[in-house]
Amino acid sequence: MNRLVAPSLLSADFGNLNKDIEMVNASQADWFHLDIMDGVFVPNISFGFPVVKQVKKLAKKPLDVHLMIVDPDRYLERFKEYGADVLTVHYEACTHLNRTLNQIRALGMKSGVSINPHTSVELLDDILEDADLVLIMSVNPGFGGQKFIKNSLKKISRLKEMIVAKGCNTLIEVDGGVDISNAATLYSAGADVLVAGNAVFGAASPVDVIDKLKKS
Ligand code: DX5
Ligand code: ZN
Repeated sequence: MNRLVAPSLLSADFGNLNKDIEMVNASQADWFHLDIMDGVFVPNISFGFPVVKQVKKLAKKPLDVHLMIVDPDRYLERFKEYGADVLTVHYEACTHLNRTLNQIRALGMKSGVSINPHTSVELLDDILEDADLVLIMSVNPGFGGQKFIKNSLKKISRLKEMIVAKGCNTLIEVDGGVDISNAATLYSAGADVLVAGNAVFGAASPVDVIDKLKKS
C-alpha cells in the first residue's frame, strides 16, 4: 500500500513561493501538486506555464499537474516541456480520453484521469489500463479550503476493487478537503496519494501536518 502526500501549491504564498517550495523539498512530502484552472472548466483561474517553470527549477520532487481546463490536448506537450511528471486531465473535459492518456504516456509522463464528484467510477472501467493514476475529486473543483464530500469514500473503495479485479497498477489520488482527521480513513479505503492544500499551508507548522498525513 502506498502512502504518498502531495501538497497543493494553490494554497501556498505566491508572494513568496520559493519559501514554500523549499519547505516542501525539506518535508516528507512526495510530490508537488499544481492546479491549473482556466476559468471555463471551473469557475476560477489559477496560474500557468511561468509558475510551473519556476516551481520545476526549485523542486526536488516530481510535479503532479492537475489540469482543470477544457480541451487539454492542446497543451500536453507544453506541460511536458515545462516539467510535469504526472499529468492529469478531467474525464469530463475529454472527448477521446483513450487517445489523450496514451499521448501523455508517449510524451514520457504518468497519465492521470480525474473525475468530479458527480461522475461515477464505473465509467472508468474501459480506461483503467491506460491510466497510471485516477484522481477522485472529493470537492467540486475550483477552490481550496472546501469541505470533503463524504460520498467520495465509497468511490475510493469501489475504484480500488475495480483496480484489483483488473490486476493493474493504477494509483488512486484523492483531492479536496483532505486533512489529518480523514487521512487514515482515506488510505484504508484504498487511496495511494493524498492532496492537501489548506490543511498544509494554512497550518502553523506545514511540515508537521505533512508528517502526520504520511503517518496516518
Ligand atoms: C481544487 C484543487 C485542489 C485544492 C485542494 O479544485 O484541485 O488541489 O488545492 O485544496 P484543499 O486541500 O484546501 O481542499
Ligand atoms: Zn488538484
